[in-house]
Amino acid sequence: MATNQWWASESFWRKTAIWVTGVSLIVLMILTVDTLPQISAGSKRVPAYSVINYRIDYVFDETRNVQAPVIGVKEPLFGKELSEAEAEALVAHGKLTVQAKNCMGCHTLLGNGAYYAPDLTKAWLDQYWGSKEVREELMVDFIKDPSNKLHNSIGRRMPKLAVTDDEAHAVVAFLKWMSSIDTNGFPYNFKPIEQEN
Ligand code: HEC
Repeated sequence: MATNQWWASESFWRKTAIWVTGVSLIVLMILTVDTLPQISAGSKRVPAYSVINYRIDYVFDETRNVQAPVIGVKEPLFGKELSEAEAEALVAHGKLTVQAKNCMGCHTLLGNGAYYAPDLTKAWLDQYWGSKEVREELMVDFIKDPSNKLHNSIGRRMPKLAVTDDEAHAVVAFLKWMSSIDTNGFPYNFKPIEQEN
């Protein structure tokens, strides 16, 4: 049997490995450069932080066959309109609180985290908050003291995590902003809160 076939030679496979690695590296670099602007706040799918000054609806998009966020009329969070810089600072404080208290130890955010508790991506729009008028205060109260039983969707309980009043307000801002991100319909079959008028 011949042993000098070109495809069996060591140098052929060495060169192939180098080319495949090189081309993959370039493709990954291009994809990274292409992705970064698409996942930054202020882009088409990830709205700027001041979106928390507006109503966020979650409606079925026939053409894409998924539910998608729609930015609606002015509806400032906690009744106070914020500048882009103020909104960014508040959302950042909320995100830091979520990290510091390790909410992802039980919850998922944008699908990442643990599966003990509900995904929080659209928690702001969850119909379990009852009415849109009181939801922001209910959320603040719930995050500070989940034992208040106002919320019970899955029969499991959330512990009290010593979240301060300021931190809870910031977390709600973070959740409102996150709910405005177009996630291609994730999480699926989500039932949003009624906020018609
Ligand atoms: C030990 C696990 C655990 C940790 C840690 C935890 N949670 Fe929860 N959380 C739960 C459970 C369980 C529920 C569902 C409770 C219910 O429906 O009564 C829940 C429910 C919620 C809800 C309501 C979700 C919805 O869709 O309406 C929000 C908002 C929430 N948690 C926020 C947080 C935040 C913010 C943190 C971090 C500060 C956090 N949770 C940390 C277990 C946890």
